[in-house]
Formats: sequence, C-alpha cells, structure tokens
Amino acid sequence: MSAHTVDVVVIGGGSAGYAAAIRARELGSSVVIVEADKLGGTCLHRGCVPTKALLHTAEVADVAHAASTAGVSVGEVVVDGSAARAFRDKIVAGKHKGLQGLIAGHGITVVAGYGVLGPDRVVTVGDDTYAASHVVIATGSHTRLLPGIEPGPRVWTSETALSSDVVPARAIVLGGGVIGVEFASAWRSLGAEVTIVEALDHLVAAEDASSVAQLERAFRRRGIQTRLGVRVATVAETADAASVTLEDGTVLEGDVVLVAVGRAPHTADLGLEQAGVALERGFVVVDDQLRTTVPGVWAAGDVVAGLQLAHRGFQHGLAVAERIHGRTVPQIPDASIPRVIYTHPEVASVGLTEERAKETWGAEAIATVEYNLAGNAKSTILGTSGVAKVVRRVNGPVVGVHLVGDRVGELITEAQLVVGWEAHPEDIAPFVHAHPTQGEALGEAFLALAGSPLHVA
Ligand code: NAI
Repeated sequence: MSAHTVDVVVIGGGSAGYAAAIRARELGSSVVIVEADKLGGTCLHRGCVPTKALLHTAEVADVAHAASTAGVSVGEVVVDGSAARAFRDKIVAGKHKGLQGLIAGHGITVVAGYGVLGPDRVVTVGDDTYAASHVVIATGSHTRLLPGIEPGPRVWTSETALSSDVVPARAIVLGGGVIGVEFASAWRSLGAEVTIVEALDHLVAAEDASSVAQLERAFRRRGIQTRLGVRVATVAETADAASVTLEDGTVLEGDVVLVAVGRAPHTADLGLEQAGVALERGFVVVDDQLRTTVPGVWAAGDVVAGLQLAHRGFQHGLAVAERIHGRTVPQIPDASIPRVIYTHPEVASVGLTEERAKETWGAEAIATVEYNLAGNAKSTILGTSGVAKVVRRVNGPVVGVHLVGDRVGELITEAQLVVGWEAHPEDIAPFVHAHPTQGEALGEAFLALAGSPLHVA
C-alpha cells in the first residue's frame, strides 16, 4: 500500500480523460490517469475508430460493386470478415500505441486499476491512494441493455459486433439511433439482410426532418427493412437463430440481434454518491463549468448528460483542465457541436433543426434553403445524391446546417464555423469554393439564402 499526492487525478483515460490530463500537464500540474482497461477508452477500442474502419470496409465493397460504372472491372467482390477485422484491429493498435507514447511523452502517470473516489478528493486504486487538489470524473458510458435481454452468442452489442469476424447474413438491429443505423448500413453493404426496429416513428429522430426522410428513403432503396413506431417485447436465441418479438406480436427471425438502444453513463461503483457527488438518472450533476457538487471534483464526457460524442469529450476535458488552472473558458453548447452519422449516405449536422429554430423564434422568423446535390458535379462523379440544407434567422445568422450524402461529414467543419461564429449568409456568400468539390453545395446554399443564387432555378 502506498499513498501519493498529486495535483490532478483523472479517473478514466478515454477521450475526455486523456484530453484533460494532457492539458493539465501542459499547464504545469502533476497528473495521474487511473484507467481500468486501456488508454483511449470506448472511442478508440470499441466505438468510433473501429466502427469507422468497418464502415470503410463497407464503402470499399460498395465502390467495388459499382466499379464498372466508372469503367473499372474488378471481378467478383468477396468480403473476408476476418481480414476486415484484422484491418480494424491494426488501426486501433496503431492509434493506441501512438496515444500511449503521447501520454508518456507528457510525463503523465497512468495507474492501471479501478479508481474509487473517497472523501477529500482521495482516489483509491486497489491498495494505493492518490490525494489530489482536483479530480476529474471521465469514466464514460456503456451499452444500455433492455430489461430481460441479455447478450449471448447471437444477441450482440456493438462491442461484440466489432470484435467478431462474422458479417451476419440476416441481422435484426434493435434501435434506429446512431449506432443502429451505422451497423445496418455497414452490414447491408457487406451483403446482409437487415431489419431495424425503432420505437420512435423515425430513424435518427433527433436530426432535421428532411435529413431523416432522405436517410429513410436511401435505406429503403438499399433494401434495409425498418419497423418503426414499435417496441421490442422479447428476444430469444437458439443454437441456429435469434428471434425478436415486437410489442405488436410480429416475430422477426435473424442470425444475429444487435442491441443498440442507447448508452448509459458509467457512474456506479465509483464511490461518487458516498463522496457527495450528486447524480441524476445516473449522470453526474454539473454546473455550466462542469463542476460537480463537490468542490474540486469535475466531470467530463459521456458521464455528463447531453450528446455522447468523443469530440464533446475532448472539449470537456480541455475546458475542465483550463478551469482548474484558473482560466476562463466558455462552455460550447451541445447545439454548436458537429454531429456526423457515417452511414451510406452520411448525415451531418450542426446547430438547430428547422423545427427547433421555428419553435425558438417563430416560423416567420426562419428561412431555409435546400440545395440538391444533383446539381453538384463532384457528388455526381462520386455517384451520391443528397441535400445541403441551411437554416437562418431572417436578416440574421445561420443557425443550422443539415447535410446528407456520401462524404458530407467532411463538410461539417465549414458549417460549424458558420454556425459557431453566427455568420450571416451575406457575409459568407462571397467566399469562393473550389470547383469541383462537394463544398460548393454549401456555397450554393449560402448564396441562395443571401438572395443571390447561382445554380438554383
Ligand atoms: P441513440 O440514443 O442514438 O439511439 C437509440 C435508439 O433506440 C433510439 O432511437 C430509441 O428510440 C431506440 N429504442 C430504445 N428502446 C427501444 C426499444 N425497446 N425498442 C426499439 N427501439 C428502442 O443510442 P445509440 O444508437 O445506442 O448510440 C449511443 C450514443 O453513441 C449516442 O448518443 C450516439 O450519439 C453515440 N454514437 C455516435 C456516433 C457518431 O457520432 N457517428 C456513432 C455511434 C454512437
């Protein structure tokens, strides 16, 4: 048993935690990260990175299937599940090594083990204690399961799916949120029959209604089945198959059931409530500076209610570390954080939906333009359809951008600057976009909203 004293202890070495650790170290503090598993957390090992690698495999398969339209003959397209898994594992391993080097290079101590918060900001890890001036809770989130539905050989979570060599031939996806649609998209591209069951009336229901309608249409055309507005009642599995019974009595059969009905914050068994840190629905209660109810204890990332996104975690971590060092850092509102769903086609957005903007300022105070990617040469070359939709306040700034189409996720950087800087379309319309790029679609939408459209009738 040994007792240590440091400036900052970060519990959890995922996106939020390691960002907080690096910035705190840069600002001169001694820093310990307590990590029970691997540095990099869910995003690197079981989330964003391997999922995007799987989606890249899917995109390559789509391109190979469509190769002849661009004048290239590739013969039979064969998907090798174990090679695809090796591809994602190699990317994750490389990034993990890089991150370990980065953390070591900053002189941050990583303590392997499960950290528990006690009184007076003392964190216990096994037999050892770390007393700190500041503690950052950055323990992330985990897959939420439905009552009575346990993971099994054929009942998967996203983690099972990513660590498997198997691309299921018939998949039933429970939940039409972000995880559900990304796996449905990837597996369909890799040859699976896919059915999505979603309790709400639409897929990715938090997105702008026009993006939702386009994604649903694209999925229909791709042969992805959906059961919308119905909940799952039970799930059963045998040695050969899995089945899902819906609340309306329908029974669906598949090889695999993926449970993707949300992620819950990881805040149990950390000693939080005993140490005085208030929780609400499992999330850590914080003020607008990410301070918890205990002085000197902060929270960052998925443990804080709101968007569960790695880049929000980075921002939280950096902001907390700076505040610990007395700096004033504005808290970026969730609405200004870009969101990208990496399906085929992609859905990307920042700011408010048209509906939300109208609720906020009144319908007559809002103007929108939708620029169809059919008019965009680069999108036509890539063979993608979609729309760039921009929402503005009349005589005011752009308050929302909503994009659908392959690769439009890369356009969200421009959109986030426009929304974040509260730019008026008139201010940004004069900027020139390179031709031919998909970015021109945004430029066309800004021109049209500024009252001087170019390629719009
Ligand atoms: P989610 O909250 O996005 O979607 C879960 C869906 O399941 C909801 O639409 C909900 O209505 C539905 N649902 C809940 N109970 C149900 C039931 N009994 N029967 C049928 N449907 C039911 O959660 P998801 O997709 O699990 O993702 C978790 C988090 O991870 C999200 O916050 C997401 O933003 C994040 N994530 C982000 C990604 C990205 O940025 N590209 C990729 C993957 C995840």
